[in-house]
Amino acid sequence: MFRKKEAKKAAVRQRDGNMSRVPAHIAIIMDGNGRWATSRGLPRTVGHREGAKKFREIASYCQEIGIKYLTVYAFSTENWKRPKEEVDAIMQLFHDYLIEARQELRTRNIHIQVLGDLSVFDGEFRQLIDEVQSMNPGPDALVANLAINYGGRAELVMAANAAFAEKQGPITESDLEAHLYTAGQPDPELIIRTSGEFRLSGFLLWQCSYSEFYFSDLLWPDFTTDELDRALEAFAGRDRRFGAVK
Ligand code: IPE
Ligand code: IPE
Ligand code: MG
Repeated sequence: MFRKKEAKKAAVRQRDGNMSRVPAHIAIIMDGNGRWATSRGLPRTVGHREGAKKFREIASYCQEIGIKYLTVYAFSTENWKRPKEEVDAIMQLFHDYLIEARQELRTRNIHIQVLGDLSVFDGEFRQLIDEVQSMNPGPDALVANLAINYGGRAELVMAANAAFAEKQGPITESDLEAHLYTAGQPDPELIIRTSGEFRLSGFLLWQCSYSEFYFSDLLWPDFTTDELDRALEAFAGRDRRFGAVK
């Protein structure tokens, strides 16, 4: 098991012979849970359960291959438009994951951060989030950002208001950045969306400024570590110019 993990890690690193091509921060729009379930004649909620399992698998793979930050879009500010039963089932999955995280993440060396407007959640849920976020598994832990009740526009308005209130004058890019949910973290170098959709749906609108994109046809519960490797390979081949001439 250990040897296989090490071999995979080495393979990713060797891909272009340059460690710096493994992104520090990957973000994933985990889309397609509903279609995965419907195509099997199952309720959409089963798709979300499978999606949550897939998240656990991919997070531990990211940790193995040396990714430092993994941000996943789990529930958007627009997803409240869905039927109550579906929303409740998704919230229950977060709750279950956070309970599990409280018990096990220290040993798994993952640091959870929740990105989003948490003011809508009840006290118990917020308390659980606080507890999990304040756990400190160690300096080399994977930071897993879970975007829940997240909207990129809402984040920008919140950050702009907070920056302005602090400074009471014209704000700079770094003032605004300091108030984003991702403050202090590098921007994602690579954003992956599954399920064959080609849009951001409000994800990381500020942080995606120079991200590379990879679109996968796989529905999120069907996503694999091999497909993640393909995304990393595509990323390693991109010519990132940041506006300059090379
Ligand atoms: C992504 O899968 C999960 C959430 C948005 C919560 P979907 O539920 O959007 O799946 P599809 O797009 O309907 O297949
Ligand atoms: C984006 O997926 C949000 C998440 C994956 C959580 P949606 O399924 O909500 O996005 P749209 O409605 O297809 O744009
Ligand atoms: Mg969707």
